[in-house]
Amino acid sequence: MDFTGQVAIVTGAGNGLGKEYALEFARRGAKVVVNDLGGGIDGSGTSDAAQQVVEEIAAMGGEAMANGASVADFEQMQDMVAKARERWGGVHVLVNNAGVLRDKSFAKMDMADFEFVLRVHLFGSAYTAKAVWEIMREQNYGRILMTTSASGLFGNFGQANYAAAKAGIVGLAKTLHLEGAKYDIRVNAIAPLAATRMTEDILPEAIFRQFAPENVVPAAVFLTGRDAPSNAIVGAGAGGFHCSWMTMNTPVVLPEGARSAEDFARAWSRISAHQGDNVPASGMEQSERVLKALKARPSADRS
Ligand code: NAI
Repeated sequence: MDFTGQVAIVTGAGNGLGKEYALEFARRGAKVVVNDLGGGIDGSGTSDAAQQVVEEIAAMGGEAMANGASVADFEQMQDMVAKARERWGGVHVLVNNAGVLRDKSFAKMDMADFEFVLRVHLFGSAYTAKAVWEIMREQNYGRILMTTSASGLFGNFGQANYAAAKAGIVGLAKTLHLEGAKYDIRVNAIAPLAATRMTEDILPEAIFRQFAPENVVPAAVFLTGRDAPSNAIVGAGAGGFHCSWMTMNTPVVLPEGARSAEDFARAWSRISAHQGDNVPASGMEQSERVLKALKARPSADRS
């Protein structure tokens, strides 16, 4: 998978996973924008983390530019993309990876921290995607990788803010997948598991050692390559890879005149059963499937 002639932007690439992605894109021939404001795990402070990665890339003969802006600032993201285009002529790959944590149980969570985490992850992902969107449409080519998390897909104690942001990112990815398809813009989401400063205090030490960030890189490269799928949610860590899906089962139709809350309660085991589960191609399928189920009822049931 060769990225020669391509320009890749990786946000939050001063540390952890983003750094590994940036180095690998450079190794595979891409010109890389290394974005990172270089803050602490909670997003406070700044450093020259991005510049250090750029120097590493230069030392191995690659080409990269540092960008110390915050993904949570739309104008700064527009400016970052404009500079990449000016210097290298386009943007082919965007990896939205920048992230912060401000964990607390919901009872103790400050709403300012809730908003901050959403701003970095969810708004940050939307801002960068928006900043490259016109360019990718014009090019008739683009690959966007969003970073979700098991926390967003399944929930996690103490992470209401982070989980909400990471689940929001899935909705964003799925919609951009639909809107970008015509222009060969493919949008996927990755749910990594990696030993970084972010997971240092969360993962038990024995597990932490097995989850080197390099193990996530192959999935990220494939999901942003020319032959990438679109609309995939891929988990990656420690050499294990999997997919997750948002599914819908076959609607259960309650007959007219028997649609009270009590009727619903009686039917709950059928309504909540894994029956006929599959992945709708878009949100429009919900109504289509309900109408189909209504049509399929025995005619005596129909009004
Ligand atoms: P990390 O803390 O090593 O890297 C995140 C980077 O994002 C940092 O370098 C930080 O300075 C940068 N960043 C933070 N706010 C920024 C902003 N406003 N603008 C630009 N850069 C900013 O953490 P890690 O583990 O490498 O995380 C990368 C992504 O993967 C994050 O989105 C995280 O939520 C996600 N993730 C990581 C998991 C793991 O097991 N490490 C699990 C699930 C998701």
